[in-house]
Amino acid sequence: MKDINKFIEEVFNKRYTCKGYDSEKQVSDEDFRTIIEAGRLSPSSFGFEPWKFILLKNRDVLEEIKPYAWGAHASIEGASHFVLILARTPKHMKPGSEYLRHIKSDIQKWPDDLLKQRSKKYGEFSDDDFDLNSDRAVFDWTTKQVYIPLANMLTTAAMLGVDSTPMEGFHQEKVNEVLVKNGVYDKEDFRLAVMVAFGYSNREHREKTRREVDEVFEVFE
Ligand SMILES: Cc1cc2nc3c(=O)[nH]c(=O)nc-3n(C[C@H](O)[C@H](O)[C@H](O)COP(=O)(O)O)c2cc1C
Repeated sequence: MKDINKFIEEVFNKRYTCKGYDSEKQVSDEDFRTIIEAGRLSPSSFGFEPWKFILLKNRDVLEEIKPYAWGAHASIEGASHFVLILARTPKHMKPGSEYLRHIKSDIQKWPDDLLKQRSKKYGEFSDDDFDLNSDRAVFDWTTKQVYIPLANMLTTAAMLGVDSTPMEGFHQEKVNEVLVKNGVYDKEDFRLAVMVAFGYSNREHREKTRREVDEVFEVFE
């Protein structure tokens, strides 16, 4: 096996969900920056980047979400960095929105003719292919996109020797309410999709368990 293949498999075998952090140990600015870059540079459907990452440092707000975030207690107590991954609200993701115009014109810099073609294609995708015809369907689709940066951030952290915890063990309505009330973001624009913490573990973790490859992969010829 080539060194690069070995390295990649080692990283994926090594990554695990941290259940307790050493609150004395901090992730360096350099490592955290690279983790955020892994999120920022992630792919998304049509390239719409429907996410935002917020490093939540405010202790009062962290304590306020704790009763509604059962899966995040260890991270709130000891992790070095606690990150909210937000998904854009349906208002921004609907064909013709100002946000999509901004992405297509200002960021992706599509010339006018291609921009029109792509907008038409997205309209068809949204209406017919994926049936994104309710706010719930749009939010679920958008949320799927934000799990891609989540995964990339987890793997990048593992490459850097940083421990991590992905978290959706929280009450959606209540945690969103606390964050919005405290001005962390505007509910018109974003909704919390998932959270992720980074730091250094203070304990041994359970051995990794996974189904064997022949249970998860097959070839159809
Ligand atoms: C989207 C997602 C949400 C998760 N939510 C939580 C959580 O709230 N709290 C927690 O301790 N672990 C959480 N986990 C961790 C999983 O339980 C864990 O990934 C799984 O058991 C496999 O273990 P491993 O990550 O150590 O390989 C979550 C994982 C994912 C991918």
